[in-house]
Amino acid sequence: MKGLFLTFEGIDGAGKSTHIEALAAAFRAAGRAVTLTREPGGTPLAEKLRTLALNDAMDALTEALLMFAARRDHLLQVIEPALARGEVVLCDRFTDATFAYQGGGRGFDLAVLAQLERWVQTVPAVPVPGLRQPDLTVWFDLAPAVAAQRLAGARVPDKFESQPQAFFAQVADAYAARMKADPRRFLRVAADRPREQVWRDVEAGVRARGFL
Ligand code: TYD
Repeated sequence: MKGLFLTFEGIDGAGKSTHIEALAAAFRAAGRAVTLTREPGGTPLAEKLRTLALNDAMDALTEALLMFAARRDHLLQVIEPALARGEVVLCDRFTDATFAYQGGGRGFDLAVLAQLERWVQTVPAVPVPGLRQPDLTVWFDLAPAVAAQRLAGARVPDKFESQPQAFFAQVADAYAARMKADPRRFLRVAADRPREQVWRDVEAGVRARGFL
């Protein structure tokens, strides 16, 4: 079995979590070993960096560096070994989130992010000048106003969740730009519908690509 790397993206409140769990169950039912993980995080070091990045105030470059430092550790310790074993890796957020949140939301230099992406995602298993990239990115696309309604009162918001709607409008635009730059990698799912309908599209999109 060839390893498979799937990532899941969207603004806070877009509702990715239940679908990631359901997809993990579907792959397991099909006989695949699944590694379910998240960013920032997924290793002891990366989880420490997550706590810092999601709670402490810092400038956008520091934030981007922490995200990519966490990512490098996570790639080398968890994602690459799982792919080498032929597993399905389902990762809640990856580099598109950095382009969306630090690039779009914070307005940080996209060329610098692209440089960091190149450094961090150069791995032994992918011949240079290739990079480790997801085989598929499921993007839960939701209007920021709807996401804000969903998040309101749901829990104590972290540093990003407490950003104003204008921040999330920029994050959403940046996700759209990432998809435009590499459309074949993305499965866009309209997330403003009942959960079952969203799930149907997620499952159908993954099946259509022959992954399930
Ligand atoms: P999220 O994935 O939504 O997890 P939870 O459901 O537990 O809140 O939270 C991660 C937050 O980190 C989210 O607000 C987006 C942000 N983030 C970045 O700003 N840059 C990144 O590169 C990544 C991976 C996440």
